[in-house]
Amino acid sequence: MSYYKNFGLVLGNPLWRVYIRWVLDKSIDDFGKLRFKPDFKKKNFTCLLCGVGNEATAEEYIKFVVKRNENPAVWIIDLGKEQIDAVKTMISRKFPKLNVKIKQTNALELDQIIKPGSIDWLETDGLFEFFDNKSLKKLLAVWKNILNKDGFITTTATSSRWKFQEYVDRFKVWTGRVWLGVTVYRHTREEMRNNIISSGFEFVEGPTFIPYFKRYSIVKT
Ligand SMILES: C[S@@+](CC[C@H](N)C(=O)[O-])C[C@H]1O[C@@H](n2cnc3c(N)ncnc32)[C@H](O)[C@@H]1O
Repeated sequence: MSYYKNFGLVLGNPLWRVYIRWVLDKSIDDFGKLRFKPDFKKKNFTCLLCGVGNEATAEEYIKFVVKRNENPAVWIIDLGKEQIDAVKTMISRKFPKLNVKIKQTNALELDQIIKPGSIDWLETDGLFEFFDNKSLKKLLAVWKNILNKDGFITTTATSSRWKFQEYVDRFKVWTGRVWLGVTVYRHTREEMRNNIISSGFEFVEGPTFIPYFKRYSIVKT
């Protein structure tokens, strides 16, 4: 079963790109609520798309970055070979001159390939679902290590707060297994917040179009 091909039905939809642009804009704006100003103009600005999913996500992400910094260093990683191959093809066609490193690797092992304190912006969308609470804390520790002191993280995550959302969460786990062939985990909203705070971050939580799916703009405490 191929996550890349099956989820491609969602990610291949032109509305997906509209969503990515919207969610990035909103999540960056939200840093104002933490009185934090992301510095995209910084010299040697380095960013990481962690768990890329597909080439449309990578393309929208890169366009968003290069609008703010003409010469960024970009890392793109994913566990899946199909995702990485598709992104490599897209980059060589559309951004052949950009400084992009694309690697098939586990996000939990990022600190083996990326230097501590070297990432300014880390973005991912819907990655926390792939981790239970224990491994999510490990992931956040790895991210904290590779992020520089003024670094920032944007992400989105599903979590449940009410009984109905618990059913949605169960449905998510089932569709992940049956439709996409992946194991995803259930989280309550409280667990999600605690995982971030206990890992040494502060955050703003913002809405998306779906109440069960939240945006997070995160900085180190
Ligand atoms: C980050 S999420 C969503 C990304 C994209 N926005 C989308 O919706 O597909 C899904 C991606 O995370 C990748 N992934 C899951 N667990 C991972 C891990 N431990 N390390 C790196 N990538 C992982 C999956 O292979 C998948 O391509």
